[in-house]
Amino acid sequence: MKKESHPGVVGAPTLSPLFLARLSRRGALPDPFGSRTVRTYYQARYAIWHALRALGIKPGENVAFPALHCSAELDAFVDLGIGLRFYGIDDSLRVRFDSLESAIDDRTRALFVIHYFGLPQRMDTIGEFCRRKGLRLIEDCAHTIRGFYGDRLLGTFGDASIFSMRKLLPLPDGGALRINDPAIDPPAEPAVTPPCGRTVGGVRRSISRNLETQQGPLARVLRARVLKPAFAALKAVGSGRGSDPSPREEQYEFVPERIHWGMSSLSRAILRSTPLDEVCRRRCENFHSLAMRLGPTTHVKTLALEIPENFCPWLFPVLVDRPEAFVAHLMGRGIEVSEFWQRFHPAFPRNQFPAESAMKERLLPLPVHHQLGERHMRWIAETVLAWNGS
Ligand SMILES: Cc1ncc(COP(=O)(O)O)c(C=O)c1O
Repeated sequence: MKKESHPGVVGAPTLSPLFLARLSRRGALPDPFGSRTVRTYYQARYAIWHALRALGIKPGENVAFPALHCSAELDAFVDLGIGLRFYGIDDSLRVRFDSLESAIDDRTRALFVIHYFGLPQRMDTIGEFCRRKGLRLIEDCAHTIRGFYGDRLLGTFGDASIFSMRKLLPLPDGGALRINDPAIDPPAEPAVTPPCGRTVGGVRRSISRNLETQQGPLARVLRARVLKPAFAALKAVGSGRGSDPSPREEQYEFVPERIHWGMSSLSRAILRSTPLDEVCRRRCENFHSLAMRLGPTTHVKTLALEIPENFCPWLFPVLVDRPEAFVAHLMGRGIEVSEFWQRFHPAFPRNQFPAESAMKERLLPLPVHHQLGERHMRWIAETVLAWNGS
């Protein structure tokens, strides 16, 4: 009997040359980015900076901020001299209101909430809390793209909302700020175009990765005869116009010069041409499939998540004691993952939040993106369940 071969699992979606050839260069961005009060930036961390400015939060004032976070979100606050009052997150990744109540003081101007991995926070309760306390709401939608809470789009609840579209789609760059309160003026359109070398480098990496995963003679010919020479030429053009950084290098850095960089026109064209409903539907199906297949095991803990029927997830979070060994286990079986939020920001008092800090160190999210399907989820689940912790 023929042995079944296992599917390789690419960790993030990639760009196919065919898709690139059909990009639509004109027209509005799809919702929730189509509004006239949306501004697009190089990365979401710079959208946070503009959100704080647009809301008029001043140096010396503070924002209530969740104790579970990436850390790239915090530099905007430090740069603007705005304080952070941290509050707890429970093991279903929801806001802990008892902790939030005690975090707020008379200088708190806003509440910052994160929809972790695309799972919506309870926006009705949060909205009511902000009204009662007289706080602005900043909604962080960096882990979703067109998600819903009930029948309302995520990113329409906050006075200001931020997105990181580059996390869910194969874009060389891209974050956004959406202003929802008509009384707040959105910032001016960002004046600077990101250096062409960066845009080209990101697209080149993504297409190469896409073709590596394609089998068959056509992909081979495309790789050897068309793309290799084209990429060599593009590299030569790009090298004079800004370096081509690796994504790892960019994970945490905050570069003040980039605050006014916009999203590249190539990223805008990719976003405009992507069927977002389809992307979210597939991601949601994959997330549910993994949730159904992964029960708690001795060595991998699933979180106590309340998973909505219809939402748009980024990744599927699990907790493991030895993330580096777990990554090696998965990578050795063709499943691309990387260690996750390893950095603690100096502005975060981790000793005051031992539960959230331990969760951050143990989080290892699994891919569920829209270019994967049922056979990938089956293989991921089998491999996770076979992990013996060593
Ligand atoms: C919750 C959250 N918000 C914002 C960001 C910043 O996004 P970007 O990398 O696009 O700056 C991150 C980064 O990982 C994040 O996890």
